[in-house]
Amino acid sequence: MPLRRRALNRVPETLAVINCSQLVTLSGARRPRAGGDLRQLAIIEDGAMLVRDDLIEAVGRRREIESLITGDCETIDAGRRVVMPGFVDAHTHPVFAGIRANEFEQRASGATYREIAARGGGIRSTVRTTRTASLKDLVKAGKRYAQWFLRCGTTTIEAKSGYGLTTEDELKILRAIKQLNEETSLRYVPTFLGAHDIPAEYKPRRDTYVNLVVNEMLPRVAQEKLAEYCDVFCEEDVFTAEESWQILSAARSHGLGLRVHADQLSLSGGAKLAAELNAATADHLENTDLTSFLALKSAKVQPVLLPGSVYALGSNQYPPARQMIDAGLTVVLATDFNPGSSPTPSIPMVLSLACTQMKMTPAEAITAATINAAYSLGRGDEIGSLEKGKRADFVIHDCEDYRELAYFFGVEHASQVYSGGKLVFSRSA
Ligand code: NIG
Ligand code: FE
Repeated sequence: MPLRRRALNRVPETLAVINCSQLVTLSGARRPRAGGDLRQLAIIEDGAMLVRDDLIEAVGRRREIESLITGDCETIDAGRRVVMPGFVDAHTHPVFAGIRANEFEQRASGATYREIAARGGGIRSTVRTTRTASLKDLVKAGKRYAQWFLRCGTTTIEAKSGYGLTTEDELKILRAIKQLNEETSLRYVPTFLGAHDIPAEYKPRRDTYVNLVVNEMLPRVAQEKLAEYCDVFCEEDVFTAEESWQILSAARSHGLGLRVHADQLSLSGGAKLAAELNAATADHLENTDLTSFLALKSAKVQPVLLPGSVYALGSNQYPPARQMIDAGLTVVLATDFNPGSSPTPSIPMVLSLACTQMKMTPAEAITAATINAAYSLGRGDEIGSLEKGKRADFVIHDCEDYRELAYFFGVEHASQVYSGGKLVFSRSA
């Protein structure tokens, strides 16, 4: 049966997806997956799925699902290809102005990320361009990147502010994220990252900047309900563990969930702090020690690994994923999409890096970028797997075996992407 073409963004009432070589459901216990469970993708061979409005009504073998079809139902023939949940990217910085191809070139000629930052480049360079951009400029640039995420098969992203570093500029970025959530087909979970760097003008009086974040920015963000999470870049030369603690504790008192950029460039206490504060996630972890991993495990903090940034910085210090999985941690993989350390929106690229550089299996990597990522965003009951009652966010990938997603790298596998039952990207359209 040929694949029926559907109009982009038309909402069907009932939709049957049939003839999937593998329906990769990721169904299972209602919790983030650890240990051997990371390898259980709950695949249905010759699978099918019934969708009503924006929700999944049933998943099963083709015969079972076809017997449920009544009346006016649109059928999508997946053509014996893989169907799986839309990727959930739990760590991105998708709103900024300008790019940093110049720094990319400098790194290719031997300069390091830290050296570039120390001479006023890096995050501060994007802060300068983002401050001069209008809300409209940021939304326009953000829409281009939203399309990139969708065409990689990602349907939900966590989105951080952090390139404004004044109250008004941080609010502007969070408003852009809100607008992008309303005006694109990608879903955004907003995170306030006013503590992404100490702005140049506050360098000699860093405590004044911490006070500004705590006493002015956070109350405004909370009052305008512009963020669900707060993040801090806890790092030598950026925010100390003590300063990070102050900011994150204040964020908690405003009802925000917590995420931490932890131990990316050095062992700076970020992971330990995330454990002490029972944060939702500790992200990066390239330099974390075993004691901190065990602390994350007891505090049920999810590690978010970002191999794209290790790769793009030309480093080979990938976080020890196997050690974390063996320690029982509920690992998440994300892109860290940003204009400096990780200019990629591609989860398939991250899956490839996870398998080749961190020795995760393709199944573990897929679990980390779907259901585990969804739990890390407090949305484990809504997205990240194909199960009755969940949002119909799914992707038809142009391959027969799910392992091909990580194996054939540099290929755009996503052929049709659906969000809430609506076709939002089609490679042939
Ligand atoms: O996650 N580490 C801090 N923030 C980003 C880098 C942002 C940038 O370089 O613009 C990261 O790698
Ligand atoms: Fe980041």
